[in-house]
Amino acid sequence: MKIDIGNSDNLFFTRFIANATAIKFLYYELYKNHPKVDAIFDELIDTLAKAYTDRPIALKHRDNGKEKKGNWFLSNEITGMSLYVDRFCGNLKNLGDKLEYFKKLGVNFLHLMPIMQSPTIESDGGYAVSDFRKVAERFGRIEDLKVLQEKMSQEKMYLMMDIVLNHTSNRHEWAQKAKEGDKKYQDYFYMYNDRNIPDQFDKTMPEIFPEVAPGNFTYIPECNKWVMTVFHNYQWDLNYSNPSVFIEMLDTIFFYANLGVDVLRIDAPAFIWKQLGTGCQNLPQAHSILCLIKQCVQVSAPGMALLGEAIVAPKEIMKYFGTGLYAAKECDFAYNATHMALQWDALATGDTRVMLAAQHAISQKPYGTSWITYTRCHDDIGLGYDDYMIQQAGYNAYEHRKYLKNYYSGVQPGSPAMGALFAINPKTQDARISGSLASLCGLEKAIDNNDYYAIEISIKKILMMQAHSFFIGGVPMLFYGDELGYTNDYSYLNDTGKAYDNRWMHRPIINWDKNKKIDEEGSIEERIFSGTKRLIGIRSKLEIVSDFKNLSWLHPHNIHVAGYLRSYNDSKLYCVFNFTAEPTFLTWFAFKQHGPVSEKLFDHWSGNEFSIGYDNEYLILEPYSFHLFETK
Ligand code: GLC
Repeated sequence: MKIDIGNSDNLFFTRFIANATAIKFLYYELYKNHPKVDAIFDELIDTLAKAYTDRPIALKHRDNGKEKKGNWFLSNEITGMSLYVDRFCGNLKNLGDKLEYFKKLGVNFLHLMPIMQSPTIESDGGYAVSDFRKVAERFGRIEDLKVLQEKMSQEKMYLMMDIVLNHTSNRHEWAQKAKEGDKKYQDYFYMYNDRNIPDQFDKTMPEIFPEVAPGNFTYIPECNKWVMTVFHNYQWDLNYSNPSVFIEMLDTIFFYANLGVDVLRIDAPAFIWKQLGTGCQNLPQAHSILCLIKQCVQVSAPGMALLGEAIVAPKEIMKYFGTGLYAAKECDFAYNATHMALQWDALATGDTRVMLAAQHAISQKPYGTSWITYTRCHDDIGLGYDDYMIQQAGYNAYEHRKYLKNYYSGVQPGSPAMGALFAINPKTQDARISGSLASLCGLEKAIDNNDYYAIEISIKKILMMQAHSFFIGGVPMLFYGDELGYTNDYSYLNDTGKAYDNRWMHRPIINWDKNKKIDEEGSIEERIFSGTKRLIGIRSKLEIVSDFKNLSWLHPHNIHVAGYLRSYNDSKLYCVFNFTAEPTFLTWFAFKQHGPVSEKLFDHWSGNEFSIGYDNEYLILEPYSFHLFETK
């Protein structure tokens, strides 16, 4: 086969040769039984060559710069924010004018929630894509995205976008053609003439949105067939056992890469392979597809990192970093969803033992990969860690989760939180939690009650939760609005396209008059904004916080305090957090356990020096306070 990339380019060929064996192996492992396996493999190679030829020269330079830095994304200097362009500032052009705002806060990495074309009503917040290559009109045009990317690149900012790999909207051209009876496109989806196979699948597949989209199949009257729809009934699952689907989506991945995407968020990768008799999640072939994508990206767009959005059980999440021969060769990033949920667990109970019990499952991440760490995102909070972790802390798993759900939905007497249950499964009573960071931390209720003390406490909680996720290792990803304490926004209830999905309560419409309050000293907005900004600033100065697989957990002998140690060369950073409303204490032992510590500890958060030697036995932690102690 001849690979035509125009002028010969050694870099491309060097990378191609380095990855070709793995690419061929993975592809044939997946598709060896397909009748057109060889011809489609040729298409794969052509896709790689075309992607590289089309890659703008500026991006090739950017790739080289990143390669020289080595694992550029492990850096402590990157802090992200995830936002809906329309709800944040209207459209892509306006976003270009907001770069100063991000700079002021210290954010240099933006995740634009889906902006590609998707129906207005049945859109799942943009995750039902009807054209993967056209920006939806309300956001602007593809040219606006390019201008924004260039502007961000000049400001040394990074860009993240989504590829919705698992499904398309029912309005996508492929789905439309399938409805019209076109066999080629019917084979792009899982379509069946009757309920026989769908019923067999349904026996073992869980339901993702049991209230609004029960079951996993939808009847399509136009072609008299059942199509697999794991998420909403308007999101048709793509059939990756068909290699042509893989090639189409690989080409789309390169389309995004060549727009200048630095991190590609692969939406819902756990679901991309289906097999009868299984739960159709986290299957080995899903990992092979991701590994194949990674090796291909490595050849033609090596500067683009991959984030696998696998919100699954802790030990399953870890596999998205690659296992065996592919360790650190699958996704560069995964969301630390386990840790995110555990923080909320500890905040509700004031007890950090479940958090500690889970660490063994998530600490063995391969070097060179990293987490996206976060407290809130556009989705719900799932309590997906394992029952045994809860039991190890001495609780009954069912009752414990029930308590957490009651606490965050505000049903539990005395709970300050104002959230709601999402996706309640009537059969199992499983549910997840919606609500903004501020409302779940009690700010909404405190403001409603005009309760000054409760406002103070909720601000402390917000900052402690953020600090806990900022320093644990990985790139922190703020969710827009949380940087200044937006509480729930209930306006979604008046919109028929959104009212059925309470995740919209924590996806605010930004009011820039309110945002001006970040400059009014003493206002709630200013206190949260300046605290968040200070945390980002501290983090970006401490190389020790980079993700060098340099995290150990402390056993502080106090169940209310979570503590971890970051170490690098001769430096140590002890991060300790009081998850209760009461003052509590630590002894010198918590620190000394990890080797000799000087008696003087400098706290980057308060700017004070502490000494907790033998004469000064206890370190008192105020309610919901934390310290970032550096020691040599
Ligand atoms: C991901 C998204 C979520 C969406 C789902 C289906 O989990 O984060 O918002 O509903 O995929 O695309």
